[in-house]
Amino acid sequence: MPDANLVEKPGQRVIGLMSGTSCDGVDLALIEISGSGLETRFKVQGKFHQPYSEDQKQFLLQCMDPRHSNVKVISQANFLLAGIWAGAIDSMLRHYGEKAADIDLIGSHGQTVYHQPQREDCQGLQVNSTLQIGDPSVLAQLTGITTVGDFRVADMAAGGQGAPLVPFFDWLFFSRFQKNMLILNIGGIANITYIPSDGDRMKVKAFDTGPGNMLIDQMMQRLYELPYDHNGAKASLGKRSDKLFAYLQKQDTFPDQPPPKSTGREHYGQDFVLSLLRKAIRWRIPEPDVLHTVTEYTAYTVWKAYRDFIGVEIESLVAGGGGSHNSFLLKRLQEFFTKIPVENVNHYGVDEDFKEAICFAVLAHECIQGNPANLTAATGAKRNVVLGKICPVNKS
Ligand SMILES: Nc1ncnc2c1ncn2[C@@H]1O[C@H](COP(=O)(O)OP(=O)(O)O)[C@@H](O)[C@H]1O
Ligand SMILES: [Mg+2]
Repeated sequence: MPDANLVEKPGQRVIGLMSGTSCDGVDLALIEISGSGLETRFKVQGKFHQPYSEDQKQFLLQCMDPRHSNVKVISQANFLLAGIWAGAIDSMLRHYGEKAADIDLIGSHGQTVYHQPQREDCQGLQVNSTLQIGDPSVLAQLTGITTVGDFRVADMAAGGQGAPLVPFFDWLFFSRFQKNMLILNIGGIANITYIPSDGDRMKVKAFDTGPGNMLIDQMMQRLYELPYDHNGAKASLGKRSDKLFAYLQKQDTFPDQPPPKSTGREHYGQDFVLSLLRKAIRWRIPEPDVLHTVTEYTAYTVWKAYRDFIGVEIESLVAGGGGSHNSFLLKRLQEFFTKIPVENVNHYGVDEDFKEAICFAVLAHECIQGNPANLTAATGAKRNVVLGKICPVNKS
């Protein structure tokens, strides 16, 4: 049973924690929250980003790569990450002059190291699985704050993909604007949530569209030894290679799959990028053109997802996530979506870099309240289920 005091306490203060597939760092948001479900109201009281060092990033990428990973590094990373995040929480609290004793709850997404939404044969049984590390129990013990983690597992056990989960937050937050809108998050992977003007939960559609920053970042690392294409500067110097674009369209089957669907580094990781790079070298495509083409493909897959699987007129496309800083990517999106304005989530009062961190604070709060927080239309689960595992701490 969740702590009864916490369930009934109004105006709880919750820290949300997100470490995405880009492995750029951890995002933290401190919110004060009241109500629940559609009545949820929150106020952001703090935001904090702690980047990973290059060594930490490489270690995490090693954990995620089945060829170089092993149980020892995953077990170590599970504890290591919780330690890094506890340090980040401490830094944030000190930055804002806050004390851990005044925080009620942490909601931590965890770091996905493996996500396999489709069932595969395993020992004669059809199994799907997902693994988020950065143990919530370790985090609870290190911070002294009750922590909710592992949100994806319950949805997957209920027949869903375990992803995407942010659409629940999108529905909670954006329904109030009463217009048909498409919310786009550009993290390592990109995903969209369609919010209907009448706010009907059953009409919400959401799924991963394909690459977000993942192809752009990997190409930048391989071609320029830089972590990402700042504001899309390199891509904007190049031009589109029709040949490489057609190759991408042919090779990549994910955008054609009907939803519910989710993807990750398992699909858009090293193998995908290396085969693309081999073609680019063979066809002597200049480096900025490769970046331009990959960025354009990223925008195209978002538009294709809307065209093929949403099929409803929208009034605006609202972009957030780190990729929304890539002005060239946004420009290409605007060209694909022609008359539909491409806006930033900032216009709606949500910081583009912290929406997901805020979301996991809200999801932790819903868990404590015992409210189901998966959108079955998005994840494909057979039923609505309460998400998360609660890791309590000793009462002082
Ligand atoms: N100014 C910028 N220009 C282009 N890309 C950016 C910029 N700032 C951030 N990014 C991209 O955003 C990524 C981080 O986005 P984020 O939303 O944290 O993704 P994730 O949830 O996968 O960690 C970076 O890896 C980078 O690719
Ligand atoms: Mg990130």
